[in-house]
Amino acid sequence: MNITIVGTGYVGLVTGACFADWGHNVLCVDNNEKKVAMLRRGEMPIYEIGLAEIVKRCVDAGRLAFSASIEEGTKFAEVIFIAVGTPPGYRGEANMSYVEQVGRLVAQHMDGYRLLVEKSTVPVNTGEQLKRTLAKYLRDDIPFDVASNPEFLKEGTAMEDANNPDRIVIGIESERAAVLLRQVYAPIIKKSGCKLLEMNIASAELTKHASNSFLAMKISYINAMSRVCELAGADVKQVAQGMGLDKRIGAQFLYAGVGYGGSCFPKDVDAFVHIADRLGYNFELLKEVQRINKAQREHLLQKIQHELWVIQDKNIAVLGLAFKPGTDDVREAPSLFFIPQLREAGAKLRLWDPIGAEKFAELYPEQKYYKDIMECVTGVDLVLILTEWPEVKQLDLAKLKAAMKVPVIIDGRNIFEPDAVRAAGFTYHSVGRA
Ligand SMILES: NC(=O)c1ccc[n+]([C@@H]2O[C@H](COP(=O)([O-])OP(=O)(O)OC[C@H]3O[C@@H](n4cnc5c(N)ncnc54)[C@H](O)[C@@H]3O)[C@@H](O)[C@H]2O)c1
Repeated sequence: MNITIVGTGYVGLVTGACFADWGHNVLCVDNNEKKVAMLRRGEMPIYEIGLAEIVKRCVDAGRLAFSASIEEGTKFAEVIFIAVGTPPGYRGEANMSYVEQVGRLVAQHMDGYRLLVEKSTVPVNTGEQLKRTLAKYLRDDIPFDVASNPEFLKEGTAMEDANNPDRIVIGIESERAAVLLRQVYAPIIKKSGCKLLEMNIASAELTKHASNSFLAMKISYINAMSRVCELAGADVKQVAQGMGLDKRIGAQFLYAGVGYGGSCFPKDVDAFVHIADRLGYNFELLKEVQRINKAQREHLLQKIQHELWVIQDKNIAVLGLAFKPGTDDVREAPSLFFIPQLREAGAKLRLWDPIGAEKFAELYPEQKYYKDIMECVTGVDLVLILTEWPEVKQLDLAKLKAAMKVPVIIDGRNIFEPDAVRAAGFTYHSVGRA
C-alpha cells in the first residue's frame, strides 16, 4: 500500500519506518524543512533504539522517503495519517491548530477519495471537526473518510512497541475506511497476533486519553503511597512489589519517584481534564492526580533544601535530564522543574545525561555539561538523580564517595538500596523509604 504520514516527529517517524518495514510504501511529510533535509541525509532527529537502522534499510529498499510538500503527500496515497503535535494550549487544552492545518491543506490538494487518519492524540470529537474542515475546504464534491487510530508506543522502546502492540485500536465510520486500515495493519497482526479493535471514532479517541490518564493515575497513586510510607516507616518499593504481583493490579507504572513527565502524560491529563470539564463532567480524580504529581517534585526539592540548608553557591551534580532512559526527549522532564529552581536559588550546577544533554542544552546553553559521569560528580556537595540511566545504576559507590566533596545523594528514582548506600558512607534520601 502507499501510505502518507504527515508530521515526522517521534510518532510519525517511528510509524513511518515500521509501516515501510512491514512492506508498505511510505512518504513521511513534515513542514520543518530542516528536519526533512536531515532525514534525507540519513541523520535521525530523535534517538530511539533500532530506528536509524530500519530507516536506512527501508530508504535503501525504496520503500521510505521524506518530503516537505503536503501536496506531494496528498497525491501520493489514499491513506493519510496525521501525526503532528497536539501541544498544550495556555489553559491546558490541546492546541489543535496543527491538526486543523493538515486537514485544510489535504482538502485543498485532494484529487480523489482520501482516508484521513488521526494518529495524534486528540480530544474526543476531533473526528467531527476534521470532517467539517475537509468539507469546508474541498474544491469539488470528492468523497473522503476520517478515522481514528491512536498511538500507544512508549518512548525508549518505541520500535519494539510498534512491532509488538498490545492492541491496535481503530475508530471508523465506513466499511471502506475499515478495509483500508485492516490492510495497513494486516502484516503486523499476522506476525504478532495482536487484536485489532474496531469501534466508533469517539470511542477510539477517548481510549487514548483514558489509557494515558489511567497510567498517570497509577503513578500518582504510588507517589501518594510513598508519602504515607515515609511517615509510617515503610518501604514503598516493597509495598509496590506486594501490590504489583496481584494480576488485577500489575507491576507496571507502580514506581514511586519524581512524578510523571515527558511529552504525553502531563499534556494528555491536562487536556483530558479540560475536555471532561467542557463536556460537563468535573473529573476531580484526575485533578488530584495532577496535584499529587506537582507535590512530589516540591517534596523532593524540600529534601534538597533541608540537606543543604543554603543552596546558594553549592555544587550540585544532576544525573539525568531526559524524562526517562532510552530517549533524548526532555519535554516536560523533571529536570525542567529542578534545574530552574536550583539555578534561581544560586546553585552551581553540573549536568550529565548520556543522550538528552544536547536537547537540554538547546534550552539552557549556558549550563555546564559533562560527558563523563565521574567528572560531573567531582567536588560536588550533592548528587541529584533524576533519570534511571544504567550508568547511574552501575556507579561504584566507593569511587563516587571519593570524588564528591560531601557524600549526599538525593535519589528521585529509588535506584540504590538505602542500607547499602548508607553503609558506604552516604547521606541518602530517596522516595517513600525511611
Ligand atoms: N511522543 C510519544 O511518545 C507519543 C506517543 C503516543 C502519541 N503521541 C501523540 O502523537 C502526536 C505527535 O507527537 P510527537 O511526539 O511525535 O510530536 P513531535 O513534536 O515530535 O512531532 C510533530 C511533527 O509534526 C510536524 N508538523 C507540525 N505541523 C505540521 C504540518 N502542518 N505539516 C507537516 N508537519 C507538521 C512538526 O514539524 C514535527 O516534526 C501528539 O499528538 C502526541 O500526543 C506521542
